[in-house]
Amino acid sequence: MLQPAIIEFRDVSYRYKTVEHNRHTKADNEQAPASPMALDDVSLDVRPGEFVAVIGHNGSGKSTLAKHINALFTPSQGTVLTVGLDTSDPELVFTIRSHAGMVFQNPDAQMVTSIVADDVAFGPENLAVPHEQIVTRVDSSLDSVKMNEFADRNPAHLSGGQKQRVCIAGVLAMQPDILILDEPGAMLDSRGRRGIRRVVRELNDSGMTVVLITHFMEEAMSADRVFVMASGRIALQGTPMEVFCQKERLRELKMEVPFSILLAEALQQRGVAVPNMVKPSELKEELCRLRLNS
Ligand SMILES: Nc1ncnc2c1ncn2[C@@H]1O[C@H](COP(=O)(O)OP(=O)(O)O)[C@@H](O)[C@H]1O
Ligand SMILES: [Mg+2]
Repeated sequence: MLQPAIIEFRDVSYRYKTVEHNRHTKADNEQAPASPMALDDVSLDVRPGEFVAVIGHNGSGKSTLAKHINALFTPSQGTVLTVGLDTSDPELVFTIRSHAGMVFQNPDAQMVTSIVADDVAFGPENLAVPHEQIVTRVDSSLDSVKMNEFADRNPAHLSGGQKQRVCIAGVLAMQPDILILDEPGAMLDSRGRRGIRRVVRELNDSGMTVVLITHFMEEAMSADRVFVMASGRIALQGTPMEVFCQKERLRELKMEVPFSILLAEALQQRGVAVPNMVKPSELKEELCRLRLNS
């Protein structure tokens, strides 16, 4: 039987109260034109242990969606249930945030102290976790992101990828069930991104539910399921295979088609009988097999 959803959106819409350019000027709110729906009737569910990737153009609503999962935002219409709890109930916000932790784009903006271990301890300290437990949690969280040897360092001296892994450890120290990452690799080089990808993969393998917002197709390809957002709606969803093989639809949505799919397409046009493989490794295997059989 299907497990109950760990994240559930039912007909969720969200409209920012002000248009973006004057969101800091409260005085003129009354005259401000209504902003478009940032989320427009979104329904989805995520199962425990699933790895979901959310892709889509800038402004398509990905961050707004992510912030609904841990009650940073609550729906203008509709309902969000995170670990079965209604995010609109102000009394549940604290509990919801301890179940669903979020990592943002800019690691520097998420660092609060000048020692890595203290930074990781910050979350559980706020949850009033007993000191001995905090020590254990900091240790195991840093271990999960392979940053143990940096525990005493100053985060300012780390690379972007290392900083981002410390941010992930900070979230893990709260022992969440859900890890939400909003474009964690956007400010990193490819090496930094690879490190994050590996850590996220391992966490998911050990049972963590992951929601990864990304504009890197290769990251979305390793998810169990992909949501493509456009204008606040989920325009396309399915397994990476189902989504990325819809080349025409992706082009309509002005989304990049992954290289391995384009290569498979080009080979098919030249009469090579390769299927629409998604992952480069699978395409490579298939080509090797064809070569051996020819
Ligand atoms: N603070 C804000 N105030 C007003 N409008 C916003 C604000 N943040 C985002 N928006 C608008 O909401 C829509 C969705 O934005 P966002 O969720 O940030 O998209 P994405 O993360 O996919 O780039 C966009 O039209 C954006 O301009
Ligand atoms: Mg965003």
